[in-house]
Amino acid sequence: MPRFDHNFILFTTILFVSNLCIFQLSSSLKIGETCSTDDNKCDAGLRCGTCPASGNTRPRCTRVQPINPTSKVNGLPFNRYSWLTTHNSYALSGSKSPSGSPVLGPANQEDDVATQLRNGVRGLMLDMYDFNNDIWMCHSFGGKCYNITAYQPAINVLREIQKFLESNPTEIVTIFIEDYVTSPNGLTGVFGASGLTKYMFPLTRMPRDGGDWPTITDMVTQNQRLIVFTSKSAKESSEGIAYEWSFLVENQYGRDGQIAGSCTNRSESLAMNTTTRSLVLQNYFSTNPNVTGACIDNSASLITMMNTCKNASGGRWPNYIAVDFYQRSDGGGAPEAVDVANGYMTCGCPNIAYCRTNATFGTCDIPVLSPPPPAQLEQDESFGGLGLSFATHAAGQPQPLWFCLAIVTTLILLVK
Ligand SMILES: *[C@@H]1O[C@H](CO)[C@@H](O)[C@H](O)[C@H]1NC(C)=O
Ligand SMILES: *[C@@H]1O[C@H](CO)[C@@H](O)[C@H](O)[C@H]1NC(C)=O
Ligand SMILES: *[C@@H]1O[C@H](CO)[C@@H](O)[C@H](O)[C@H]1NC(C)=O
Ligand SMILES: *[C@@H]1O[C@H](CO)[C@@H](O)[C@H](O)[C@H]1NC(C)=O
Ligand SMILES: *[C@@H]1O[C@H](CO)[C@@H](O)[C@H](O)[C@H]1NC(C)=O
Ligand SMILES: *[C@@H]1O[C@H](CO)[C@@H](O)[C@H](O)[C@H]1NC(C)=O
Repeated sequence: MPRFDHNFILFTTILFVSNLCIFQLSSSLKIGETCSTDDNKCDAGLRCGTCPASGNTRPRCTRVQPINPTSKVNGLPFNRYSWLTTHNSYALSGSKSPSGSPVLGPANQEDDVATQLRNGVRGLMLDMYDFNNDIWMCHSFGGKCYNITAYQPAINVLREIQKFLESNPTEIVTIFIEDYVTSPNGLTGVFGASGLTKYMFPLTRMPRDGGDWPTITDMVTQNQRLIVFTSKSAKESSEGIAYEWSFLVENQYGRDGQIAGSCTNRSESLAMNTTTRSLVLQNYFSTNPNVTGACIDNSASLITMMNTCKNASGGRWPNYIAVDFYQRSDGGGAPEAVDVANGYMTCGCPNIAYCRTNATFGTCDIPVLSPPPPAQLEQDESFGGLGLSFATHAAGQPQPLWFCLAIVTTLILLVK
């Protein structure tokens, strides 16, 4: 009789199934696969989300990161790239005011600036005010900050940016200051204290005639990796900080910027087709931040508006795409819009994912796509009552924990 008896085979099977279970429980999920919003098992750069406002109720792994364009096409002038930008980057839900009470007013984003930067956000819109003898991030009115509209001292956020630039020596970040600071050299002071001054791209090197910016390579080599724009023109002469609309055109923000087929300048900006401004910024978010509607705004309609704005901007794709709740989408979201813009701008392909490294402009590797899984949550006949659907297994869904435990337990009982 061989020594491989009945129990030994069972024992081996238990080990095998247990390992399989452990492997499957820890395995990650790909884009579009069904996931659980309780434990995000989606691959890096993805988040488990739904878009109930459009009837998309199946929790699926959705993108929160654009492709880093320089990983595909490096060394072009800075104005040949597009960057994901967050509107009111600092305005998080659950923020506490200095007096301890919740900040009045809606949130525009769901994660802090450090996380946004890790997710590939490279443009930050920050409202800065004089407050408490310091500079604060506030979302206020009448040009004045109050306890109830004060999010946090500006230096906290600026230090997060400083840490990011320090540990990511090839990355470039742009700050758009909605500037209410009147204290003399207030911005210079807070940027200095945060350690950001040494990274600042000098005003004197910014093209004023619509010419190309220096290349990414040049900016990285010279360590001039922080572009700062202010909304106050006087800061150019007083503190050497670039007046935003001397260098870029920008469309209307809020509801008026979401009228299909129309892309007009915001009042401070020259017309969108003004080519003496080398950079183009596209805003696309509602007047009142709407966390449930953001997944719709950030998806197909964002890309449609990007095409409208491209036409209005003299055929130029946006260098900055600014949204609320950047992680929300009904598919590829704002990260996809950025990838589309980068594809056209850097290699002449409809998505940066299709650019071939070091290839001639217009050489694209366009993959054959299989149809996406259904948008609705599937109700499987036999297991529907449990709310667990086996129909999704074909899409690579791991076995649920209880299923594995049941098999292992049954096998153990058989051994006895
Ligand atoms: C703002 O909050 C600070 C800290 O709690 C408090 O000392 C101050 O009195 C508050 N100011 C107003 C106007 O409520
Ligand atoms: C930009 O838009 C505003 C309306 O918001 C308009 O008054 C202004 O003249 C426009 N500027 C140009 C150059 O079109
Ligand atoms: C630029 O856009 C404005 C509208 O903002 C339009 O009136 C003008 O004709 C455009 N100029 C060119 C050269 O297309
Ligand atoms: C937010 O967006 C949802 C979905 O588009 C819409 O039904 C709702 O009316 C919006 N809320 C506000 C306050 O605009
Ligand atoms: C952009 O302009 C082109 C050429 O004028 C036109 O065919 C296309 O429909 C326009 N696209 C949008 C989104 O307006
Ligand atoms: C692309 O070109 C750069 C610079 O010439 C080179 O360093 C790099 O190895 C090339 N990459 C590939 C994938 O050919």
